[in-house]
Amino acid sequence: MSERTVEVPLGPNAYSVRIAPGLIEQVGEFVGALGDVSRLAVVADSNVAELYGPRLMESLAATSLPAELLIVPAGEENKTLATCGKLFDDLFALRPAMDRSSLIVTLGGGVTGDIGGFLAATCLRGVRFLQCSTTLLAAVDASTGGKTGVDHPAGKNLIGAFHQPVGVLIDPDLLESLPAAQLRSGLAECVKHAVIRSRPLLEMLETRAEDLLACRSETMSELIAANVRIKADVVVADEREASLRAILNYGHTFGHAIEVEAGYGRITHGQAVALGMVAANRVAVGRGLLGPDVACRVEEVLKRLDLATRWEPLSAESLWSRMLHDKKTRGGKVKLILPRDVGRVEIHDDLSTGEVSAALEHLCS
Ligand SMILES: NC(=O)c1ccc[n+]([C@@H]2O[C@H](COP(=O)([O-])OP(=O)(O)OC[C@H]3O[C@@H](n4cnc5c(N)ncnc54)[C@H](O)[C@@H]3O)[C@@H](O)[C@H]2O)c1
Ligand SMILES: [Zn+2]
Repeated sequence: MSERTVEVPLGPNAYSVRIAPGLIEQVGEFVGALGDVSRLAVVADSNVAELYGPRLMESLAATSLPAELLIVPAGEENKTLATCGKLFDDLFALRPAMDRSSLIVTLGGGVTGDIGGFLAATCLRGVRFLQCSTTLLAAVDASTGGKTGVDHPAGKNLIGAFHQPVGVLIDPDLLESLPAAQLRSGLAECVKHAVIRSRPLLEMLETRAEDLLACRSETMSELIAANVRIKADVVVADEREASLRAILNYGHTFGHAIEVEAGYGRITHGQAVALGMVAANRVAVGRGLLGPDVACRVEEVLKRLDLATRWEPLSAESLWSRMLHDKKTRGGKVKLILPRDVGRVEIHDDLSTGEVSAALEHLCS
């Protein structure tokens, strides 16, 4: 099976996203080719460290560089400054010591990537980092684009920095151990990419749902490459989210609020985004921007991918208040990405409370 590569041409911060089965065995080779690396610190969450830590460390041993595995407890609830504080204690206790030529390698999903990337952005005012993504969500979305950071009790991802990795390595065979709900969570982000940018991707998701849910390596590689191409295109056009990059938040205005309201751990990020897309589509249909047939088509593909399109009743008032406090809300105007068709979305910033209520009614209909 051949390797797929997607370039992320960000000038001096350019890098490649490489996707191939067995790639975990080649991480050492990649690091060796980087040159000028003084030491390695691997950050992995507790689940992934147990599953794949030894294979990664063995591959890194080929570099003969000092390398330690630092383990963070798994789960979004640990994506905090407190976890980073503890990691910094561990990092600065390493001997030989971390210096500006050190490399942080992240092994895990979006949580590990965001934490490890943030450490790299802030450790000694910035060291390089390499992402080895092990969830579908991280592979298709979080791995690429350089957003790093942690949550605060006041909201998700409120603390962070833009810091691009030196590379992203994705071994699709590692996805086989993913819990089904995590696989579906990643598939929801793929639907997001399809609706904002790509009819062919939507068709792939519609016609090959079974293969995707079975996590077949070749199908996964193809899916990941298609999604990374979309993400990279958008990020390259607007690295710091001044304009276009905001379209990647399709489904996320409602989604983030639903995720917090339902409670972390009770709903995956992707499942919340799936509901968020259904809600945003309802608003778009209500405004006459989107045909109800297209909204139905998106709901159908979500269902085919085993994602819920209806949810238990949620309070419109609390959801609205969460949206008002979202970091993307400016001057009380809630930003929403609304589709006009598959592959075409618009940014609006005049969502009303009435529309939130109507969307929620639809979600529990
Ligand atoms: N930086 C970005 O641009 C960006 C984009 C999207 C999402 N995110 C962030 O990503 C996070 C969500 O990422 P996620 O869904 O990958 O969650 P996650 O990292 O918590 O992983 C989900 C679960 O799967 C486990 N796991 C990971 N890989 C596994 C494997 N191969 N086999 C078995 N279990 C495995 C993890 O231990 C965890 O329990 C959120 O915090 C979100 O804010 C960031
Ligand atoms: Zn997301």
